[in-house]
Amino acid sequence: MPALDGLKVVKSSIHGYGLVALRPFQAGDIIVYGDGVLYSEDDDFDDTYSLLLNFPEEDEDGNLEPQLLFDLTDQTRWINHSCEPNAEVDTSWEPKTSTARCWWIALRDIAAGEELTYDYAFSAEVSEPCACGSDKCRGVIIDEHEIDQVPARYRHLVRPRYRKRLDKARRGA
Ligand SMILES: C[S@@+](CC[C@H](N)C(=O)[O-])C[C@H]1O[C@@H](n2cnc3c(N)ncnc32)[C@H](O)[C@@H]1O
Ligand SMILES: [Zn+2]
Repeated sequence: MPALDGLKVVKSSIHGYGLVALRPFQAGDIIVYGDGVLYSEDDDFDDTYSLLLNFPEEDEDGNLEPQLLFDLTDQTRWINHSCEPNAEVDTSWEPKTSTARCWWIALRDIAAGEELTYDYAFSAEVSEPCACGSDKCRGVIIDEHEIDQVPARYRHLVRPRYRKRLDKARRGA
């Protein structure tokens, strides 16, 4: 696999492998376009390295269309999550041509040597403990709007600044 321009896979201080910038990027820059293979949620595959592509809608018979996923096949698959990320991912899905695209944009200036991160915003049901190390870490890789639905086994990991929301939701339960 050819190396992506200005990026390198390294051992990460966050988790496993990560992707670092070899050169500076400016806020707003498109850092990289990712490549991948299209799957449906009904397929039997490992979705660890996948992005969600569509927002499933109901067809005219009331059936929900399948969630489509883009299994990243290049170095972008190693980009870790941070609760205070330096990049964000955008995706596009064109049903007529079955074309999926994804790309990462710098949210702020990024110096050479910095690890790239984006907010995975996982739904509560697939949330995982977070080791991003940011002061703003939620403690769990989870969409910040779903913190009140964090699985019981991870409740103790939720950081104090987000506890109020959790306690409020539990009182209301
Ligand atoms: C797409 S992979 C990222 C590459 C990963 N570091 C590796 O070496 O396989 C996503 C998985 O990496 C782990 N991961 C990514 N960011 C993390 C973080 N901030 N804290 C803990 N684990 C993380 C989680 O297990 C997540 O499901
Ligand atoms: Zn975090």
